[in-house]
Amino acid sequence: LENGLGATPPMGWNSWNHFFCDIDETIIKATADALVSTGLAELGYKYVNIDDCWAEQERDSEGYLVPNKKTFPSGIKALADYIHSKGLKLGIYSDAGFQTCSNKMPGSLGYEQKDADTFASWDIDYLKYDNCNNNYTEPTKRYPPMSQALIKTGRPIFFSLCEWGEMHPAFWGAKLGNSWRTTTDISDAWDSMISRADQNEAYANFAGPGGWNDPDMLEVGNGGMTHKQYVVHFSLWAISKAPLLIGCDVRDLSNNTYKILSNKEVIDVNQDPLGIQAKKVKKDGDLEVWAGPLSKSRTVVLLLNRSVIRSTISAYWADLGVPADTSMEVRDLWKHKTYNKAFKNQLKFTMEGRSCRMFILKPVS
Ligand code: DGJ
Repeated sequence: LENGLGATPPMGWNSWNHFFCDIDETIIKATADALVSTGLAELGYKYVNIDDCWAEQERDSEGYLVPNKKTFPSGIKALADYIHSKGLKLGIYSDAGFQTCSNKMPGSLGYEQKDADTFASWDIDYLKYDNCNNNYTEPTKRYPPMSQALIKTGRPIFFSLCEWGEMHPAFWGAKLGNSWRTTTDISDAWDSMISRADQNEAYANFAGPGGWNDPDMLEVGNGGMTHKQYVVHFSLWAISKAPLLIGCDVRDLSNNTYKILSNKEVIDVNQDPLGIQAKKVKKDGDLEVWAGPLSKSRTVVLLLNRSVIRSTISAYWADLGVPADTSMEVRDLWKHKTYNKAFKNQLKFTMEGRSCRMFILKPVS
């Protein structure tokens, strides 16, 4: 969508994966505080996004959405002021249907301009737009009115389409939004995570500056996967140019979780100005190589062992589309080290089950 936003994938936090409907303004503010105090905001995590369940069940007598009086008593504008005072941006959530997925608040179908104007009057910066409880017309009919309504407000609002991949939003999303979901909801488990990365990969050619494939939000730190599996999760999302929306409780980060989310070298891959989504370039059973181009003639490579046993994976330059005689400087993005010998024709590493190694290759001149 040409609204000047999403030149690189959005980064921030969203309430759903950890809190589901149990949210209130205290949690949102404390999350903003934590993003700043941990340094994550400085690393780029700027969007603080409220998901489902923030509004009263009914609109007011004039048809306006009303923030839940118990959980958001100060209202959304006051919250936006607070978030902005911290140098962050506030996101909100609605649905291209009569009610949102929780059935606890109204959706925006038929109220697109009214709600977009409301969001703009509250100084909202991001809208996630879900797909539940609709009238069974196609999403290609229900999403454009909100896209246009947001543009009409004159406020730059990042538009995140949350149709869950069934109607291939990658094919039609770029005109309407800054990101589109390619999958149903992620859960905090290896199979769920890895299958979403696969599904999302199929649409790699549709991603680019202004519009990104979205394999759903991060589960890193929520406890259902091992540290190594979360490293795989974060690495795959980074190379896939997926939105990096933290989904855990950032008020209470473990050292391991912080190490993953704050890996600047991996974040830089996600935020590379070229904006080209990496692809699976080689597959030998459960042993895979994912790779993609980065700016300055560099290549990012992920060696991914999906099996449960220790295995060796090779990536040949031919797999990466690089001439075989190129000497490469190799940087390991999780060990934070550059090998002092140039690599020729292949990368070959042995790694534990369900883990990965991530590298940037740079031709030696
Ligand atoms: C479905 C979406 O895919 C989730 O990310 C979340 O927004 C829930 N709906 C909220 O009800």
